[in-house]
Parts: sequence; structure tokens; C-alpha cells
Amino acid sequence: MDSFEWNKVFAALLTVAFVLLGLNFLSDGLFSSKNPEKAGYEIEGGAVAATSSGPAEVEVESVNALLASATPEAGLKAAKKCTACHTMNEGGANKVGPGLYGIVNRAIASVDGFGYSGALKAYGEGKTWTYEELNGFLYKPKAHVKGTSMGFAGIKKTEERAAMIAYLRSLAADPAPLPEG
Ligand code: HEC
Repeated sequence: MDSFEWNKVFAALLTVAFVLLGLNFLSDGLFSSKNPEKAGYEIEGGAVAATSSGPAEVEVESVNALLASATPEAGLKAAKKCTACHTMNEGGANKVGPGLYGIVNRAIASVDGFGYSGALKAYGEGKTWTYEELNGFLYKPKAHVKGTSMGFAGIKKTEERAAMIAYLRSLAADPAPLPEG
């Protein structure tokens, strides 16, 4: 008798458990059928945001304030990272990359006879290597000019970038004026 009673109790509990499980499944079902919809919207929104942010607006700390005090000597050290691919002397030949003499304020992708990537040619149309352009490019070349063939990771340290750019500036008979501010 007692065990019959218990059986009933268990049966009742089991039924409740199944009903709860069933409800759970149902609501899971509802959620999971909603989720992809939501995720779809989010992905769309994300993709739109990503494309609308456009050509690599990476926030790179300006070197302008540092340029006046950066010594080209420190840049000469940093330039060792470049000389495998670039010459720096006047009339220097193109190597893997184009010669860099007089690069500050030079038209982008303008060395005759050098095979620039389509990406840099397109990016550089009507632009020159201002301090800002050099700063952004040298921070992370492939982010600044998507598709550039310059295989160099970049110079993340602002002081080192400033020294590097100060050195590039010195590669001219008449160095470009320093930026203001
Ligand atoms: C592994 C080789 C390599 C290294 C290292 C390298 N570059 Fe380059 N660089 C290139 C190539 C290749 C290009 C042409 C890129 C293109 O056409 O997209 C280039 C292009 C450039 C340009 C644009 C030149 C122009 O005429 O428009 C600048 C500026 C530049 N490099 C600076 C530097 C500096 C400064 C360093 C060192 C910190 C450096 N590069 C290190 C290969 C290199």
C-alpha cells in the first residue's frame, strides 16, 4: 500500500518534471528560433559599421609634437629596419622598395620605374607623404594602405616613429618645415 502511494507520488513528480522539461524545450525552441534572427541583424549592423568606417581610420598618436626634438641620429638607428628594402641616399636605387631620399612631401607612389602595388597607387592619387601620412603608414603599413606590398609590421612606439620621420625629413638638401603643434 505504502509503496503504491509512493509510486503515485513519483509518477506525479515525474509528470511535473516532464512538463517542466517540455516547457523548457519549447521556450528554448522559441529562443533559438529567435536568436539567428537577432544575430543576423547584429551581423548586418556590424558589417555596415565596419565598411562605413572606411579606409583605415586607425587612431595613431601624432608625432608632430615630438618631431622638433627627435634627433635624426636616433632615426638612423631605427632606419636599419628599412635599409634591407630601401636606399636612403640621393639618387639611391630602388630595391625591394623605392628609394626614400626626399620622401617628405614627395608625391605618393611617384618614383619612376618602381613597380608599386595597385593599392598604393590608388591610395596615393593626388596625395603626398605629409608627416601625417608617414605617421599613419609607418605605424601599421597594411592598415593605413590596405593591400600595400610593403612587408613591414610597423613602428608602434611613438618616440621611435618620430625619430624615424625626423630622419626621413633629414634626407633632403632642403628639409621640409616642421609641422606646427
Ligand atoms: C620588406 C621590405 C620593406 C621594409 C623592411 C620596409 N619597406 Fe617601405 N616599402 C616596401 C615596398 C615593397 C614598398 C612599395 C609598397 C607598395 O607599392 O604598396 C614600400 C614603400 C614605402 C614607402 C612609400 C614610398 C613611395 O614612393 O610612395 C615609404 C614612405 C616607406 N616604404 C617607408 C619605409 C620605412 C621608413 C621603413 C622602415 C621603418 C620601411 N619602409 C621598411 C618594402 C619595405
